[in-house]
Amino acid sequence: MAKRAASISDYRALAKARLPHFLFEYLDGGSYDEVTLRRNVDDLQGIALKQRVLRDVSAIDLSTELFGERWAMPVGLGPVGLSGLYARRGEVQAAKAAAAAGVPFTLSTLSACSIEEVAKSAPLWFQLYIVKDREFVRDMMARAKQAGCGALLLTVDLAVPGTRYRDYRSGLSGSMRGGLSRLSQAVRRPDWAWDVAVHGRPLTMGNLEPLLGSGAALSDLMGWVGNNFDASVTWKDVEWVRGEWDGPLVIKGVLDPDDGRAAAATGADAVVVSNHGGRQLDGVSSTARALPRIVEAIGGKMPVLVDGGVRSGLDVVRMLALGADFVLLGRAWAYALAACGEAGVRDVLRLIDAEMRVAMALTGCTGISAIDRNVIDQATS
Ligand SMILES: Cc1cc2nc3c(=O)[nH]c(=O)nc-3n(C[C@H](O)[C@H](O)[C@H](O)COP(=O)(O)O)c2cc1C
Repeated sequence: MAKRAASISDYRALAKARLPHFLFEYLDGGSYDEVTLRRNVDDLQGIALKQRVLRDVSAIDLSTELFGERWAMPVGLGPVGLSGLYARRGEVQAAKAAAAAGVPFTLSTLSACSIEEVAKSAPLWFQLYIVKDREFVRDMMARAKQAGCGALLLTVDLAVPGTRYRDYRSGLSGSMRGGLSRLSQAVRRPDWAWDVAVHGRPLTMGNLEPLLGSGAALSDLMGWVGNNFDASVTWKDVEWVRGEWDGPLVIKGVLDPDDGRAAAATGADAVVVSNHGGRQLDGVSSTARALPRIVEAIGGKMPVLVDGGVRSGLDVVRMLALGADFVLLGRAWAYALAACGEAGVRDVLRLIDAEMRVAMALTGCTGISAIDRNVIDQATS
C-alpha cells in the first residue's frame, strides 16, 4: 500500500485528501448540527476501561458465532451507500477485504455494484429499505436469496430523510448548479477521477436498475430516494418481510427498549442498535448510551448488534462491554476504502483485530464471552 495509516483517523484524513469535496462531505457528515454524530464518538470514547494485570493473557481468541457461522471477530462491515463512488467497484473491493478477514460485509440497497456483481466475488449480507413499490421490495428479497445473502438487514430509521446541511453546502443536494459544482470538485481530485470516474464505470445504481434503467445516475438516485421512501411503514410491514424472508432477519435502527421488544415479537432474529451514524434525527441519544437498556429489554432473546462512532478496536471492546454481541463499522471502513481500496479495508480490519487484542489483554479477557460490564471502570465512565 502506497499510503500508510496508523489509525482510522489517519484513513479519514487520507479519504479527505482523495475524494471530491462533495463525496467526502456526504461520507463524513451527519444531520443538522451533528450533535448525535459527535455524541456517538464522544460517549463511546468516554467509557473508561478497567485495567487488570497478571492474568495469563498469552492466548486470546477473538472468534465468535452469529447466525450459525463462526466469524474471526465480532465485527462486520455495515451498509454504507454509494461506496462504489469512493473507490473503483468499491462494494466488491470491500466485500473481498471482509471475506479475507473472516467477517461479514453488508451491501446497501443504494450501492453502485448490484447484489449479483458482489456475490460473484465474495459472500454478503444485504441491507433493505421498504419503499412504496412493494413489488420492488419483494424482488430485492428474491434477488438477495438467489445470491445466497447470509442475512437481511431491514433498515427502519429512514421513514423520512434527515436534512444534512453539508450536502447542501457541497452541491450534492438542493442546488440547481450542483452538477457543475460537483464536476469542478471532481477535476481537482485526479487520482480519484482516474480510478473511479474513468475506470470505475458504470457509475450507476446497480440494485435500482430494474426501476431506473441501466443509465441510472447519482442525480436519479437522490430523486428516487425522495420520491420512494415510505413513511407509512409499520411493524405490520416487518411481519410481511418476515413472511417473505426465511433467513436471518435483522432490524437495523432500534434506539428504544420498547422497539427492541417489538422487534423480538415480530420474529426478527436480531436488532442493530443504531441512529444511522447521526445522519437522521439529530439530538437523539448516542448508541453507546442507548445500548444497555435495549440489551436489558431484549433479555437474551436474540443477539444485539450495534453501530455508531466505532473508530478503533478499543471502541469495539467498549460496545461489547456495554452488552453488544456484534459490532458493525460504518465510516471506519468507508474512509479506508476511499483512501486505499481493498488494501485499506483489509488494513482497518487488521488494526481493529490488533487493537482488540491489546484491550482484551490489558482488561484481563482472553475470549469474547469474558468481555462484560466488569471491564468498565464505573467510577470514571
Ligand atoms: C455515507 C453513509 C452512507 C450510509 N448508507 C446507509 C445505507 O445505505 N443503509 C443503511 O442502513 N445505513 C447506512 N448508513 C448508516 C450506517 O450503516 C451506520 O449505521 C453508521 O454509519 C454507523 O455510524 P459510524 O459511521 O459512526 O460508525 C450510512 C452511513 C454513512 C456514513
